[in-house]
Formats: sequence, structure tokens, C-alpha cells
Amino acid sequence: MPVILGIESSCDETSASVCVDGEILSNVIANQTIHEAYGGVVPELASRVHQQNIVPAVQQALLNAKVNKNDIDAVAFTRGPGLLGSLLVGVSFAKAFALAKNLPLIDINHMQAHILAHFIGDHKPTFPFLCLTVSGGHTQIVLVKDHFDMEIIGQTLDDAAGEAMDKTSKILGLPYPGGPLIDKHARSGNPDAYKFPEPQIPGYNFSFSGVKTAILYFIRDNVAKNPNFIQENLSDICASVEKRIATILLNKLKRAAEEYGIKDIALAGGVSANTGLREGLTHLCAEKGWNCFIPKFEYCTDNAAMIAIAGYYKYLKGEFVGQDVAPLARMPFG
Ligand code: KG4
Ligand code: ZN
Repeated sequence: MPVILGIESSCDETSASVCVDGEILSNVIANQTIHEAYGGVVPELASRVHQQNIVPAVQQALLNAKVNKNDIDAVAFTRGPGLLGSLLVGVSFAKAFALAKNLPLIDINHMQAHILAHFIGDHKPTFPFLCLTVSGGHTQIVLVKDHFDMEIIGQTLDDAAGEAMDKTSKILGLPYPGGPLIDKHARSGNPDAYKFPEPQIPGYNFSFSGVKTAILYFIRDNVAKNPNFIQENLSDICASVEKRIATILLNKLKRAAEEYGIKDIALAGGVSANTGLREGLTHLCAEKGWNCFIPKFEYCTDNAAMIAIAGYYKYLKGEFVGQDVAPLARMPFG
């Protein structure tokens, strides 16, 4: 019954989780509100807040799981990709804890962990499956052949889907992070009110910079004609933007699933919390007879439960790293 402590600190969430024999017993997430005033994550502030939050988050995770720190068998941590200063806090904590308790260390790739969040609970996909991983920094279609054998078959050539959501919300004057607010306003809007272009990118790759510019010009031109355009049409704008981003993502995913002949289709990453995208994928899978895997909300955005579950599978393989391990701002799948 391996007991794994998971640590996540790649961006602006400080999180700790305890996983016992493949079951998540706690998942504590400390969000950082300080960035709201700046309209985006300020890396230096993020690292400072991680330093304040990391020890209380771990203490709370142990308390919630009713696990004593002496019962932990291994420490899993996000090694990358992410903000280097933020990663450094989690990596340093994990190394110090492992050194003090003489425990093995397990390094985890954050993007792989988003996908492995699907192995929390009973409804697990079967290999090989396809996963659309959409976050603030990444947009990928991943062919998942095994827990740690993953191939990126398509990715964005410029902005990530979450970035497109966040930048649109900024143009609309909404506070950071904008994705959840676009989602909220979209619920009462008409998704067909405005049409934005669908980029024609070969293969399974994506591009969001053209859509972002089209949205920017559309809003600028309309505000020039009517200064209250945004306030009067916020819900319709959000619903139309959300629909376009979701259809760009789902059209590529659909093609990939058809061409690879894969029937288990998963969604992962922060943008998988988006209602329009979740409903769109559910609908697509029902229509095609595919098995749909959508994470619970708490496992969509950054969390340590996904790090702990990924750590559990690496623990079973006996894959550990030494005390000389360093964080990686950019980290390939391995
Ligand atoms: O995976 P994540 O928590 O952090 C990264 O690894 O980037 O993803 C954060 C992204 C942000 O761009 C945020 O706006 C977006 O996920 N997001 C959403 C929603 N919740 C979070 N986008 C649309 N709708 C949501 N409900
Ligand atoms: Zn993430």
C-alpha cells in the first residue's frame, strides 16, 4: 500500500495531495489571488506566495488524509514545465522532505500528470487513448499508449487555448483569470450571435493567434460604433468566443480519433473545466459511439492529486530520481 505525497507548484497554485495505494485521500489547493491586480501571473510574486503556502498546504493534506508524515513512502513533485521560480519552491521542498525522511523522490511532468488525472477513481480509459490537453500554456492532442508512453500528435503553433480565453477576457475588461468568467457569461448568451474564423492549419496542429486578433478587431470596431457594445452584448460575445474555441479544438480531435481509429477520448488541463467544451465533447462522443473521459472539476485545473497519482504509477515501476534533480521550465515527455 504505497503512500505517496504529491507536490504541485508549477504556476500559481500551491497544492499538496496524499495518495494511498492509487486512491486520492486529500487534495489541498492554495490559490493565489495576488495576480488579479496585474491581469496575469507575476512569476516573482508567485514564487514568494508558494514559499508561504507550501508547508501549510502539505500539513493540511496530511491532516485531511489522516496520514502521519512518517508513513509516507515517496515524494512526487512537478519537475516541469512551468515557471522556474515557482517550480523551484516545490522541488526544493520535496528534496528537503525526502532527505529528512530518507525517502525516494519521483519527478513528474506536469502535462503528463494532467492526462494521468484520468486514473483517479474507477472510470479509467484503456490504452491507447487520445487526450486533448488544454491549459493556459499548452494545447496538445496526445496519443497515450501507456502511463508514461505518450506521443504528441498535434499542438498549437502559437497561443494556447487557455491563453486565447484569458486574452479575450482582458479585451472585454474582465479580471484575470478570464477563462472561468467567459464560461460564466457564456451560459446566458447565444453562441451563434457572432462568427469568428476557424484557422486552416494542416494536420492535428492548432493556431489561436488569428482568432484572437479577429476577436480584438471585432470588439474594437464595434466599440467605435457603440461605446456600450461590450456591456450590452457580453453574454453573446462570451458564448460566441467559447463556441469558436471549442469547435476548433473538437474538430481536430474528431479527425484524429477517426484517423487513428481510437474510441477512448479524454479531455485534460485547465480549459477542460469549460462548460461549452465539456458539453461539446460529450455530444461528439455520444454521436460517434466513443467513450468520453472528462475529469472532475477539481482535477481539471492545477492540482497535486494528479501529481500524486502519476507518482504512484512511477513508484510501481521503481522509477526514482536523486537529490541532484533540478526543475525544468521546459520539459519534454519522458
Ligand atoms: O491547467 P491550468 O490550471 O494551468 C496551466 O497549466 O496553464 O490551466 C489554466 C487555464 C487558464 O487559461 C484558465 O483561464 C483556463 O485554464 N480555465 C478555463 C476555465 N477554467 C480554467 N477556461 C475556460 N473555461 C473555464 N471554466
Ligand atoms: Zn496545468
